[in-house]
Amino acid sequence: MSKNRVCELLGIEYPIFQGGMAWVSEANLAAAVSNAGGLGIIAAGNAPADIVQTEIRKAKKLTTKPFGVNVMLLSPFLEDVMNVIFEEKVAVITTGAGNPGKYIPRLKEIGTKVIPVVPSVALAKKMERDGVDAIIAEGAESGGHVGEITTMALVPQVVDAVSIPVIAAGGIGDKRGVVAAFALGASGVQVGTRFLCSEECTVHDNYKNAILGAKDRDAVVTGRTTGHPVRILKNKLVKEFERLEASRAPKEAFENLGLGRLRDAAKDGDVEMGSIMAGQIAGMVNEIKYCKEIIQEMFDTKGVLDYINSSHTWR
Ligand SMILES: Cc1cc2nc3c(=O)[nH]c(=O)nc-3n(C[C@H](O)[C@H](O)[C@H](O)COP(=O)(O)O)c2cc1C
Repeated sequence: MSKNRVCELLGIEYPIFQGGMAWVSEANLAAAVSNAGGLGIIAAGNAPADIVQTEIRKAKKLTTKPFGVNVMLLSPFLEDVMNVIFEEKVAVITTGAGNPGKYIPRLKEIGTKVIPVVPSVALAKKMERDGVDAIIAEGAESGGHVGEITTMALVPQVVDAVSIPVIAAGGIGDKRGVVAAFALGASGVQVGTRFLCSEECTVHDNYKNAILGAKDRDAVVTGRTTGHPVRILKNKLVKEFERLEASRAPKEAFENLGLGRLRDAAKDGDVEMGSIMAGQIAGMVNEIKYCKEIIQEMFDTKGVLDYINSSHTWR
């Protein structure tokens, strides 16, 4: 890649992040993506700091390339997790569910790049003012917690509103998605669902098979009425959520029903009552591949590289 802003900022070969995925993206997947030339990201989720530290140290043994940690700013262990980030001098953090502003000066001192995930233009502008290094604009096609605006509509609006690099996330599963993201003005892509179905991802096989078997309309949004919508694959759990929505159940009923369900699916393989978070591209993920193959298929063809290298002209 020549002169790509994201590659230059982070010292990586291809402008692709493997999105942080709670209970899914641990050291093994993150290191595999980094070794393949992208940016692998360990998800801290709500995990205690010692677990996060163990994964960071494992990743350091598996790769010498830069990798990141996705920090959930609502985590009950946030302060301890941030202390681990400082101690381990992690190359990059991506952040969700809040504002990383107060940590930025100290992160800058140790050279850690800060890249928040945002669902709106207003938040992107605020984060730029706070001094972050780049922005991940995540559209509603994504797996997991989602905003309202689609990638197609969100990315160009964020690109127009900020001058730091923008990484597009949500609905990108192959080279067509990569070229589309660059056409919208993005300087990189973040991919979650596609990497779930990689050889190196240690998520339970039942979870991978659920994605391989999914069709275009199977990744649906639950919990809209709670203000915390989540995109997951249709199963018994989704039916239970729909029952709660229809009966206008209180927020606590949703919280109780959802508690621990992602872990149940990701670790124990419960694909009936577990939460199978996945994005709308699940319908086009039909094969388990190595991370290197996934990345090379997206970037290593002449047409894609030519397009990406010339796409600054589209801004
Ligand atoms: C199983 C799963 C768990 C996720 N967990 C997180 C998370 O903990 N933090 C976060 O910022 N994003 C999370 N995401 C979003 C991803 O990082 C990424 O932005 C998203 O998957 C991109 O959309 P795609 O699935 O269409 O590729 C999760 C996504 C999935 C599929």
